[in-house]
Amino acid sequence: MAEDLNIISGTKTEQYESLFPQIVGLMEGETDLIANLANVVASLKEQFDWLWVGFYVVKAPAQASTTMDDELVLAPFQGPVACTRIKKGRGVCGTCWQQATTIIVADVEKFPGHIACSSLSKSEIVVPVIRNGVILGVLDADSKELNHFDETDKFYLEKIVELIQF
Ligand code: SME
Repeated sequence: MAEDLNIISGTKTEQYESLFPQIVGLMEGETDLIANLANVVASLKEQFDWLWVGFYVVKAPAQASTTMDDELVLAPFQGPVACTRIKKGRGVCGTCWQQATTIIVADVEKFPGHIACSSLSKSEIVVPVIRNGVILGVLDADSKELNHFDETDKFYLEKIVELIQF
């Protein structure tokens, strides 16, 4: 049974260094994807208190869809309600999927095609989940502050995403 997270203050690096082994512990022995995604986003939300953090996973389109293309579908998250489906190349998440690389957006208003799920979101980072060269989903985090995410977030969030058994 999971225990309370140990939440610390300190530099961003110190916070990730404290959180990382706890995330490892939370997923130890658990193979259920939804359970693991849920605890990863809950622990990130608790430590960093971002506006929104969550996963989108690549899935087949809804039956009523007019195209046959896969879409990103909303998965475990913490924060305000969000759009449920994002097409490849759309918004920051769909661009991350298309480009297969982490995207840091200092000011969401300056990102062409940004999908505004919350008007409070000012900056964003989206990290792809890549397994055997295939994108299986993305981890998205939004902040109420401009220019909030940097290379430190990229480094640790990519490391955290690597841990998850997709
Ligand atoms: N802003 C994202 C959409 C997802 S929400 O931020 C939760 C985008 O532009 O893809």
